[in-house]
Amino acid sequence: MLATLMAMLFLLDAQMASASWQPLIGNAFWPYADEAAKRYVTAGPDGLANYYKELPGTAHGRAYLLDATGAELTRQPVSSRIRALAFGLVKPRQTEVRLSIRQALIGTAVLGPDGQLYAFVVEVQQRPAIVPSLGPDAVWAVLAALLVLALLCFLIARDLASPAVQVSLAARRLAGGDLTARALDTNLARRNDEFANLARDFDDMAARIETLVQVQERLLWNISHELRSPLTRLSLALGIARRKAGADAQSTLDRIERETGQLNRLIEQLLTIARIKGGAAVSMSEAVDLLEVVAEIAADADFEARGHNRSVRTTIPYLATPATAIGSRDLLKSAIENVVRNAIRHTAPGTEVSIELELDAASRMAIVTVLDHGPGVPASELEHLFETFYRVSENGETGGAGLGLAITEQAMHVHAGWVKAVNAEGGGLKVQLAVPLR
Ligand SMILES: Nc1ncnc2c1ncn2[C@@H]1O[C@H](COP(=O)(O)OP(=O)(O)OP(=O)(O)O)[C@@H](O)[C@H]1O
Ligand SMILES: [Mg+2]
Repeated sequence: MLATLMAMLFLLDAQMASASWQPLIGNAFWPYADEAAKRYVTAGPDGLANYYKELPGTAHGRAYLLDATGAELTRQPVSSRIRALAFGLVKPRQTEVRLSIRQALIGTAVLGPDGQLYAFVVEVQQRPAIVPSLGPDAVWAVLAALLVLALLCFLIARDLASPAVQVSLAARRLAGGDLTARALDTNLARRNDEFANLARDFDDMAARIETLVQVQERLLWNISHELRSPLTRLSLALGIARRKAGADAQSTLDRIERETGQLNRLIEQLLTIARIKGGAAVSMSEAVDLLEVVAEIAADADFEARGHNRSVRTTIPYLATPATAIGSRDLLKSAIENVVRNAIRHTAPGTEVSIELELDAASRMAIVTVLDHGPGVPASELEHLFETFYRVSENGETGGAGLGLAITEQAMHVHAGWVKAVNAEGGGLKVQLAVPLR
């Protein structure tokens, strides 16, 4: 727009100039035109050529004298514009100015001493001025115009960008796990452009993903649930079989019992995950004393660990306020317990697992830190640790399904807390769990 404005100013300027300067230029030109015609008549083409050289300012310009037939009298080549201008000069003293961006042509008709009509034309080459000369008022006007333009552009850009931002926010929420995230709102729905279409397509996609995930979760829940009753019956039948069978069958029956127990645990874990994700059947409004929960877990874990030449130590600094969280005691307990059990399982023989409970005053969170002295987890696998069925292959068979930490993460998530795992500096895995305090 600025460039267009300047070009127009320049053209207007040139036109106005040609209109207003004509008489003035004519007056200044006539003596030179008269002299040129006189030189030609008296001294011929050579005299005329010499006269051209005497003219002032010929470095940037060139002079021509044409007769009535349009021929240049010193045989210089003549452009069609010059010839056209010359043909337009029909009576003595008539002066015409032609301004274009690159050149100025000034022509005047002159009656020679021989009574012939000649056309004297001066051509001045000029480079176009990049900024037309404007007064101070015009500078302010241009500045004001620029300001208004900038404001307009800003509004247009914002109007264009805001729906894109909206879709991007929804995509980020979806990626963060909020499957109910949608991009289309009433504002965007009113638009009839590509952005509204994009938002609509995004919402279709999100709805489809949500359905798929729900179907998958319901399937998991249904399978686990349906497996529970046959398992219960299996355990009962096992008891009866034990009584009926002879002594040599007992070791096989023990094996069956162990496997049944493991199957039972697996199904319980799956049901827990499904329950947390479905947000159903979990009371989330208990006041949970974390100090007591940690002490209980530590006592049980220490008892179990001592049987395997390991131990558990609990560190609880002086707590200024009670470590009370709101939520489900069972969930919080199994969240911490899963981490502690992993630690006991992976810590090296003869070492101890430490559990620490602190309160973070700034974020108003209780933080439980569990540290072991085991092999830790390869850095590239740390981020997958909390996925369902994820097991670190290098750390050997744990006998588990890889659900423990998934439950922990889900449980912390519904309590608006977080869990993270890092490799401790001295070796071993350090897992931190945080729960908001009441
Ligand atoms: N303290 C730890 N040190 C080293 N590796 C660990 C530790 N805790 C967990 N892991 C690794 O992370 C994996 C996932 O742990 P998770 O508790 O989810 O599953 P699991 O213990 O194998 O089975 P489950 O807990 O369901 O019985 C484990 O298989 C193990 O390889
Ligand atoms: Mg585990």
